[in-house]
Amino acid sequence: MENPWDRRFEGQDYLFGTEPNAFLVSQAFRFEPGMKVLAVADGEGRNGVWLAERGLDVVSVDGSGVGLAKARALAHRRGVSLQTVLADLALWEWESEAYDVVVAIFVQFAPPDLRKTMFEGFHTCLKPGGILVMQGYRVEQLRYGTGGPPHADHLYTRDLLIRSFGHWEIRHLQEHDSVIEEGAGHSGMSALIDLVAEKARHDILPLPSVEAAQADLRIAARTSVCSQAGSLAAERTSYRPRNADAIQSSTSVSRSASPSRNRVITKWSTPDSESNSPLSGATASMQLIITSDGIRSSSSPAIMSTRPA
Ligand SMILES: C[S@@+](CC[C@H](N)C(=O)[O-])C[C@H]1O[C@@H](n2cnc3c(N)ncnc32)[C@H](O)[C@@H]1O
Repeated sequence: MENPWDRRFEGQDYLFGTEPNAFLVSQAFRFEPGMKVLAVADGEGRNGVWLAERGLDVVSVDGSGVGLAKARALAHRRGVSLQTVLADLALWEWESEAYDVVVAIFVQFAPPDLRKTMFEGFHTCLKPGGILVMQGYRVEQLRYGTGGPPHADHLYTRDLLIRSFGHWEIRHLQEHDSVIEEGAGHSGMSALIDLVAEKARHDILPLPSVEAAQADLRIAARTSVCSQAGSLAAERTSYRPRNADAIQSSTSVSRSASPSRNRVITKWSTPDSESNSPLSGATASMQLIITSDGIRSSSSPAIMSTRPA
């Protein structure tokens, strides 16, 4: 079947230009030569090539063979190399902890189910401490019509990104309306959202540090409950946690002769006194598994139960 992107990329012109995305350039201070980057849906390669020019080791994946041929031609003209991979991201196998950086600039071809798979894939393929640099259109872009898909459910909101990346360290999150000139494809005033998120390093902690793991876990749980409360607030009520320190947590450690049965379980709850909270009385837990070579989280902090509002 013909790929519509192949047709859009036909011809000499580069649909989104040959200069890198301005938000990506603004994050240059985060990149170092030798870092391994996955440039997701990199199209005609303007971003992957720019990263390669900075000495990064770039894998540029896209579903359009025409786009990737132009990416290779651009790399050749600039005297750099990048690895191009032709693949449908709906079928892509996300290699575990392989990359220092994932770049996802305007990857909004994805409807909600595929977007969820891709966002989870970004997490899988980053090393702990690795970063995701992402820019996309907000729902308000539909009014501007200066680029992007005409489908609201493909576009981002701040809440969507907070919910999707709540278990990452969010380093930068900004909504803005700005003029962009990226070839004929993206041109004019645009409703944008920029994200830099870091994959948490505390998935694996060195032994012996059960106490450190517990402390880390309490912070993670508290941060998570606050950010989930924050995003619920936007949807349902005007609730903001009055006192994050009021969130209670208890941790139990059980050791066993068999390392895979060792567990650290932290439960935390919001107090009933937060009566205007949709999370009043909510409980949640997170479990760590202790093995001989470290402590590995087996689950992200998650709301396990909420009281009906
Ligand atoms: C808006 S363009 C963005 C290109 C590039 N990131 C940029 O900013 O210049 C969207 C890209 O997604 C790619 N794409 C669309 N569906 C895809 C899929 N299922 N798998 C892989 N790539 C896909 C297209 O080929 C296209 O290059």
